[in-house]
Amino acid sequence: MNVFICKNWFMVDFMNKKDEKSENEEISEYYAIQSQIMIPYLPTPSKLIRKVLQSLNFKESAKLYDLGAGDGRVIVMAAEEFGFDSVGYEINKTLYKQALKLIAELPEDIQNKTKMIHGDMFSVNCSDANILFFYITPKSHRYLNHIISQCEKGTNIVFIRFQPSREFCRELQLQLVKKIEDKKQELNKATAAYIYVIKRVKFESN
Ligand SMILES: C[S@@+](CC[C@H](N)C(=O)[O-])C[C@H]1O[C@@H](n2cnc3c(N)ncnc32)[C@H](O)[C@@H]1O
Repeated sequence: MNVFICKNWFMVDFMNKKDEKSENEEISEYYAIQSQIMIPYLPTPSKLIRKVLQSLNFKESAKLYDLGAGDGRVIVMAAEEFGFDSVGYEINKTLYKQALKLIAELPEDIQNKTKMIHGDMFSVNCSDANILFFYITPKSHRYLNHIISQCEKGTNIVFIRFQPSREFCRELQLQLVKKIEDKKQELNKATAAYIYVIKRVKFESN
């Protein structure tokens, strides 16, 4: 057993399992753990998800990506209640499996509108998105440039709880369309959502 002074039990657990894994697996598991320290799991309350989805101006079959999808409730609601083709990326295996369970309970036609991927949201190809959904920490906004840059003009970007900085919005040419507030939520739950639209045409790749 490796002894490390470490505040997080999962880091200790990871270090203990270290010898059983190949080098590549170690790197990806390490990355997964780091990612969840940077962006921990906190679910958006269902009421707020519904308010956000209701306020979007898209028809059925619009494509929604929830990047950092948690237990999959956002993509399930988007598919079930709004008919969106919904994709979720989640790095945590337990949450990913929970999402698959939730999807398995849906009627087959709704299941066909959802896709859950166990993977890293920062390596996503979402150039076909109409809606990107993020509930991530403000410090991680700075890593979104290459994701948002892939998307077309008119794509909606939803930020739960944390509003991106003016500088970030200027650089990516995002314009605030709506702020949604749900003041009756419990303490410590997300109560606000910020919906932006991409104003520019796609960035030229060098
Ligand atoms: C605040 S939760 C939001 C969950 C869900 N989107 C919602 O709004 O209810 C953020 C999620 O992002 C996941 N996450 C963190 N880093 C990730 C990464 N690099 N790739 C994919 N998922 C990640 C976390 O495990 C966590 O489940």
